[in-house]
Amino acid sequence: MAQSFLEVKNLRKEFGGLTATNDVTFSMGRREIIGLIGPNGAGKTTLLRLISGILKPTSGSIKFKGKNITGAKTWNIVNMGIASTFQNMRPFRRLPIVANVMVPCLSPRAMKRGEWVKKVEAKAMDALEFAGISDMALEKASTLSQGDLKRLEVARAVATDPELLILDEPFGGLSPAETELMAKSVARLHKGGRFGRLHSEGPAMIIIEHKLQQLMKIVDRIIVLNFGTILADGPPDVVVKDPKVIEAYLGDGGTTCS
Ligand SMILES: Nc1ncnc2c1ncn2[C@@H]1O[C@H](COP(=O)(O)OP(=O)(O)OP(=O)(O)O)[C@@H](O)[C@H]1O
Ligand SMILES: [Mg+2]
Repeated sequence: MAQSFLEVKNLRKEFGGLTATNDVTFSMGRREIIGLIGPNGAGKTTLLRLISGILKPTSGSIKFKGKNITGAKTWNIVNMGIASTFQNMRPFRRLPIVANVMVPCLSPRAMKRGEWVKKVEAKAMDALEFAGISDMALEKASTLSQGDLKRLEVARAVATDPELLILDEPFGGLSPAETELMAKSVARLHKGGRFGRLHSEGPAMIIIEHKLQQLMKIVDRIIVLNFGTILADGPPDVVVKDPKVIEAYLGDGGTTCS
């Protein structure tokens, strides 16, 4: 059987008596872009944190490109090509914005490719341009608005040349116009091109979002989590019509939920 790009098996995370993810199993291919949706507290961020190594699972396993990465250190996971953005952003507030993007680029992987400070800075500037905040590169991160902090998060992740990019609410805190721009940038990134220097294709993606209308335009598959368990997994148009999903999350308004 062909090896999956990402393979998550029976993943469970308990916090004391609370089970945040329960028996989560799915796999994804190198070219996929998946939307991860579900009610507040469903376990979406926990799943991201498990895949990116911030949390260790109580049980279950995660394989990336055939390698078992369950419980591996975050740094090693980034180095293998998985980058994430976070719902609650914590930049180095006193550092210039461009330096915030350079820090995650200084990985052993980048060093091996001989990318020292000038090259890393150029890459960080490219990533800031991609995210639409390159004109603020030299200002301190503490000056950024909520929406711009979101863009900084995306720039930080993109600059590490990920093969898998996991975005936690990339449209959160953005106006409708900014959301539209971010959605377009994310779709462009996935298709590859400008940031495809290391890998000829753009990264596979998992996007956690509550703004479903915008999400649906860019993903080709949706996974719905509810109480830590996968409730549905399939093409967007099928998933949004699933009565279980409508009952648990969408309600009568369907995809108008934002
Ligand atoms: N570090 C933690 N310690 C204890 N409980 C936690 C921790 N992190 C998450 N939880 C709990 O686990 C459950 C899942 O939380 P999680 O943040 O993964 O949900 P989510 O789907 O991302 O929700 P949202 O859409 O609101 O961001 C919640 O009940 C939450 O309170
Ligand atoms: Mg969350």
